[in-house]
Amino acid sequence: MSYVLIIGAKSDIAKACAREYAKQGYNLYLAARNVDELSEFAQDVTTRTQKSVKLLELDILDYKSHRAFYDSIEEKPLGVISAVGYLGEQEKAQNDFEEAKRIMDTNYTGVVSLFNIIANDFEKRRSGFIVGISSVAGDRGRKSNYIYGSAKAALTIYLSGLRNRLYDAQVHVLTVKPGFVATKMTEELDLPEKLTAQPEEVARDVFNAQQKGKNVLYTKWIWKWVMLIIRNIPEFQFKKMSI
Ligand SMILES: NC(=O)c1ccc[n+]([C@@H]2O[C@H](COP(=O)([O-])OP(=O)(O)OC[C@H]3O[C@@H](n4cnc5c(N)ncnc54)[C@H](OP(=O)(O)O)[C@@H]3O)[C@@H](O)[C@H]2O)c1
Repeated sequence: MSYVLIIGAKSDIAKACAREYAKQGYNLYLAARNVDELSEFAQDVTTRTQKSVKLLELDILDYKSHRAFYDSIEEKPLGVISAVGYLGEQEKAQNDFEEAKRIMDTNYTGVVSLFNIIANDFEKRRSGFIVGISSVAGDRGRKSNYIYGSAKAALTIYLSGLRNRLYDAQVHVLTVKPGFVATKMTEELDLPEKLTAQPEEVARDVFNAQQKGKNVLYTKWIWKWVMLIIRNIPEFQFKKMSI
């Protein structure tokens, strides 16, 4: 078995992970909505690395399809990476529950639905790795993105419990907490250069952390210390701040 399954594969971080894993010798399953749009990308990865890249259609919000999606994969993957996410609009989500629900379901419920199925298979096989891309936004609620942040916080706790459950089965679970990353998701935002990673840097960090069996990865690394400070600001002070 040599395939890694990447879900949310059209994401810039996912594409960088795909290139990194193929470069390191892995074959790929890339799963996304309208996955045909990845044909050229897949061909390019294969040309550069001689690795097999197969495209799979997946909507993370179509929970009922997840069992059939996973069952349809003949050669099961040795690991899975989820880069699925939806930042959404905080203000819209405060007034329109459909937007809030889409944020929560894309970042949390949908990932749980699919990871539950994959985790059970890996547990039975007593091997595999699961990488979930969460966010530093899940470390503390802020007025600018707390609905997205709350979904990421839920994902972080889910991954922590999954890691604990699967430890005995030798299945490794890595939680990835990116800070700012220059991708489609953030192209409208004015991000501070020193705190912003490129997708390729995140992909290298993910690969190295997964290979080393790390549990939680902050990327860029400096975010570990930034979030330590932010988490420790007393609530009476934090509620008055705009960060
Ligand atoms: N960029 C950052 O600063 C940052 C920081 C912290 C964490 N993250 C997390 O990193 C991950 C990758 O994000 P990114 O920055 O690379 O942004 P992105 O390019 O917007 O990636 C998000 C991906 O999720 C996919 N997706 C959304 N809804 C889906 C659905 N219903 N079914 C299947 N796929 C769906 C999108 O697919 P479509 O292309 O079809 O829309 C998109 O490819 C996300 O989990 C994000 O929350 C990003």
